Amino acid sequence: MNNWAEIDKSAKEWVKEAGERIRSSFNTTLSIQTKSNPNDLVTNMDKETEQFFLEKIRNTYPDHFILGEEGQGHELASTDGIIWIIDPIDGTMNFVHQQRNFAISIGIYENGIGKIGLIYDVVHNELYHAVKGEGAYMNGIKLPDLKDVPISESILSLNATWVTENKRIDPNILAPLVRDVRGTRSYGSAAIEFAYVAAGRLDGYITLRLAPWDFAAGLVIIEEVGGLTTTLDGEKINLLDKNSILVASKSIHRAILSDYVKKQLKEDYDR
Ligand code: IPD
Ligand code: CA
Ligand code: CA
Ligand code: CA
Repeated sequence: MNNWAEIDKSAKEWVKEAGERIRSSFNTTLSIQTKSNPNDLVTNMDKETEQFFLEKIRNTYPDHFILGEEGQGHELASTDGIIWIIDPIDGTMNFVHQQRNFAISIGIYENGIGKIGLIYDVVHNELYHAVKGEGAYMNGIKLPDLKDVPISESILSLNATWVTENKRIDPNILAPLVRDVRGTRSYGSAAIEFAYVAAGRLDGYITLRLAPWDFAAGLVIIEEVGGLTTTLDGEKINLLDKNSILVASKSIHRAILSDYVKKQLKEDYDR
């Protein structure tokens, strides 16, 4: 038997402790490397933070699985069992260049079902947290259900890339949406963008390619405020793969799919 209250308590404590370590690193010289391209950064703190969680989880819950961005966890072919999906620093470019607008993101899943979501905006000391079926909270304050707003009064987060020539989407699909919304934003941390949608600071977030560690925590938190996350085609998210993402309140989600992307929400997706 797994004690979810205990797992939740440990996860929250570890996230806070990891955040403290990251804050302390601001006084040290970072070691910065690149990964897939010159703009894809990783620092010693990304790796050390992932290692910190790995050691805690392995010592306390040796039968749990770990999927982390920096690759020190398991290679997973199935969602069976309990999986901690970890982005030690989401928004590394912001971490390096701005020392803000980055977050620790942890989603804990059991047999593919999201049980716990934690997004910790380290610099603002804002911990977004949800346990499935128990609501979502920011620093212990319950987040209300998302409000229905019209597209014309909504603020949408998306990267300008998706309305310029790019290899993932015809720029003419999202350009009319960008014109119709009240405003657009781009924070450079998917986890923070999910958290802001959950907190009602943004009404939606669209991106064309996120990895499991970018969205695992966000999915759990969004569901607890009555929001909806699917791919940009209205399909269910594949937890172990890269996905396009459309996250919003149900009304904004429906409007974006039907009026701009011109797709229907896939029938069998749990609404
Ligand atoms: C990145 C951020 C960014 C998103 C990228 C991610 P990282 O994560 O979430 O906002 O657009 O797709 O890879 O690499 O900083 O953890
Ligand atoms: Ca990265
Ligand atoms: Ca990330
Ligand atoms: Ca990362």
